Amino acid sequence: MGSVPATMMAWTKTRPEVGGFTLEEHAVPNPGPGEVLVQTQSTSVCGTDLHIWKWDEWSRENVPLGTVTGHETSGRIVALGEGVSSHAIGDHVAIECHLACWACPRCDEGNAHVCENGSIFGVHGHGAFAPYFVIPAINARHVPEGLDPGHASVQDPLGNAIHTLTGGPIDGATVAIHGLGPIGLFAVNAAKAMGASTVIAVDWDNTYRMNLAKELGADMVLGKDDDVVASILEATEGRGVDNSCEFSGAASALSNAIHSTRMGGYVNILSVYGQSMPEVPMNEVVFRYLHLKGINGRKMWSTWDTMHDLLARGAIDVDKVLTHRMSIEAFEDAVQLALTGDCGKVVLDF
Ligand SMILES: NC(=O)c1ccc[n+]([C@@H]2O[C@H](COP(=O)([O-])OP(=O)(O)OC[C@H]3O[C@@H](n4cnc5c(N)ncnc54)[C@H](O)[C@@H]3O)[C@@H](O)[C@H]2O)c1
Ligand SMILES: [Zn+2]
Ligand SMILES: [Zn+2]
Repeated sequence: MGSVPATMMAWTKTRPEVGGFTLEEHAVPNPGPGEVLVQTQSTSVCGTDLHIWKWDEWSRENVPLGTVTGHETSGRIVALGEGVSSHAIGDHVAIECHLACWACPRCDEGNAHVCENGSIFGVHGHGAFAPYFVIPAINARHVPEGLDPGHASVQDPLGNAIHTLTGGPIDGATVAIHGLGPIGLFAVNAAKAMGASTVIAVDWDNTYRMNLAKELGADMVLGKDDDVVASILEATEGRGVDNSCEFSGAASALSNAIHSTRMGGYVNILSVYGQSMPEVPMNEVVFRYLHLKGINGRKMWSTWDTMHDLLARGAIDVDKVLTHRMSIEAFEDAVQLALTGDCGKVVLDF
C-alpha cells in the first residue's frame, strides 16, 4: 500500500467558465470520526460532471469554486477515522455519493437517498478526481471479491438504473428504456439480467448507443425515424409495456413513455429535465391508472444488495457499457469524449 503522502494533485473546478478545471495541489485529508480515507483506483465521468464542466445554472448554484469533483468511484481504504470498526485498512470499496444525516424522518423511514439534510460527495464538497478522499464509512460499500475497480466505480449509475427499473415489475415483464446514455444502457442489460421478457430500447439519433443496446440484449431498438408509441404498442399486442423507464431528459420521451405503458402500468423517471419543463399528458395517467414515479439516487441499501448480487453472478456486461478507460491525467480528454456522446461510460484509472 505504501505510506500516505501529505499532499496530492487533484482536478479542481477553479474558474467560473466552461472547462475551468486545473490540477491543483491539496493536502491529503485526514479522516474524521466515523470516516475513512480512500486511495482512489477508478473514477468514472458522470453527466453531472459534464454539467459542472459546462458551468450551467445548476452547477453555479451547487458547486463551490475550488471543489475537487468526481463522485462515481472506487478504491482501497488506507486510514480509518476514530470509531470506525466496520472497515479495515486494505478493504476495497465503492462509494454511495448521497451523504445522509441518518437522523431525519426520511432517513428513519428508509429513504436516506432523499435525506432532508443530504449533500452529494464530489458536488457540494471534495470528491474523487483525486488520488485520495475521505468519506463517511457507511458510504464506503464493500465490493464483491475480485471485482475490477473500474467496474466497482460505475455502481452509482448502474444503481440508478436498477433503482429505476425496480420501481415497476421486471421478472417476466415487458420493459421499455427511453434514452440510451450510460444509465439507460445499464438498464437495458440489467432488465434482461433480472428476467424481463422483452426489452425495448429507445434513443433519438445516437446510433453508437443504439447498436450497444442491441449488443446488451435489447429485443427491439427504436430511434427518431420510428413511431415509438405505435411500435411499442405493436410489440405488446396493443397493450403497452408493463414498465417504462425514462432516462433521456427529453420531454417527448416522457410523453412517449406515458402513451406506451399498459393500463395500470409503471412509468419510472430518473431523468432531470433541463430548461423546458415537459408537458405531462395527465389524463392518460389518470384514466389508464398509471403509476408515475420520480427516482433519485439509489436505495440504501437494497439497490446496492441487488446490484452486488447481479455483479457477483457476472450477470451484468459492465465491459460493454464501460467503453473507454483512460488515465486520470487525461481527465480533460475524457470529459470532451463524454460530451460527444460517442461512448458508453468513460472511466479514469489512477
Ligand atoms: N435522479 C437522479 O438521481 C439522477 C442521477 C443520475 C442521472 N440522472 C439523469 O438521468 C438521465 C440519464 O443520464 P445519462 O448520463 O445516462 O444520460 P445522457 O445524457 O448521457 O443520455 C441521454 C440519452 O437520451 C437520448 N435522447 C435524447 N432525446 C431523446 C428522445 N426524445 N427519446 C429517446 N432518447 C433520447 C440521447 O441521444 C442520449 O443518448 C439524465 O437526464 C440525467 O440528468 C438522474
Ligand atoms: Zn453520477
Ligand atoms: Zn436524513
